[in-house]
Amino acid sequence: SKISIIGVPMDLGQNRRGVDMGPSVIRYAGIEERLKNLGYEVNDRGNIDIGRPPQLDVKNEDNLKDLEVVVEANQSLEEKVSEVIAEGDFPLILGGDHSIAIGTLAGVANKADNLGVIWYDAHGDLNTGETSPSGNIHGMPLAVSLGIGHPLLTEIGGYAPKIKPENVVIIGARSLDEGERKLIKEKGIKVYTMHEIDRMGMSKVMEEAIEHVSKNTDAVHLSLDLDALDPHDAPGVGTPVIGGPSYRETHLAMEMLAEKDIITSAEFVEVNPILDNKNQTAEAAVGLVGSLFGEKLL
Ligand code: ARG
Ligand code: MN
Ligand code: MN
Ligand code: MN
Repeated sequence: SKISIIGVPMDLGQNRRGVDMGPSVIRYAGIEERLKNLGYEVNDRGNIDIGRPPQLDVKNEDNLKDLEVVVEANQSLEEKVSEVIAEGDFPLILGGDHSIAIGTLAGVANKADNLGVIWYDAHGDLNTGETSPSGNIHGMPLAVSLGIGHPLLTEIGGYAPKIKPENVVIIGARSLDEGERKLIKEKGIKVYTMHEIDRMGMSKVMEEAIEHVSKNTDAVHLSLDLDALDPHDAPGVGTPVIGGPSYRETHLAMEMLAEKDIITSAEFVEVNPILDNKNQTAEAAVGLVGSLFGEKLL
């Protein structure tokens, strides 16, 4: 089968420059070679064009930074992802900050009646302009995909919502804002925080998570924010939070997804080489991609 790579050099969903280089450094870390060695045909479709606002980090009256440019880029991404799926390829999206999940999910959910989502992240990304402490749209894409937030964001692709709360599982959470906690309770979203990972172990967490997102769904998307990993193993991210799962635990999670063969689209986001240590975080991403696509030692 064929994998199509789409780069999204987006850094306007948050305020630390450099994450726009994510797609380049993940390519530099050898993603294409890695997948080809596993026997996949790979089509790198290049990057989505991102405009630049005349002034950066400008919040509008709804507490949303650089809204217009983020909306435009996500619209282009939605179209590109839809195109890739129509051609029968597996869409593999490289960020860029996590605001790009809005366009990815808009494209992916187009073709799925019930899309499951694994949100592997230190954060919930369940804010809206009303609840966000920062105004950064990368803290909002999961809420937006559930149909909650500014209409310019929720209506990308011309429909809303993209996903249902019962088909979502968040793994690795250890930083949630007040409004996000409220939303999780209100919507009954399944969350495996670090507490559950510590208590149950990653293996059991993944067993349950896989069961949860494959029940009543016809496709499953993996949205992996590299800041989910402990900053020791993934230092090159804009919003690090101590106390995360290790590279090894995350690697196991990817291997379990490969074993069950449930993932139909994926994105790896928030790699920022300016904050990194010799491209360690991009290399971690490529290692995880390898495992997700079935790499084994023996
Ligand atoms: N909760 C914080 C906010 O909304 C941090 C979000 C971090 N999100 C991310 N994709 N790294 O500003
Ligand atoms: Mn995060
Ligand atoms: Mn995130
Ligand atoms: Mn392994």
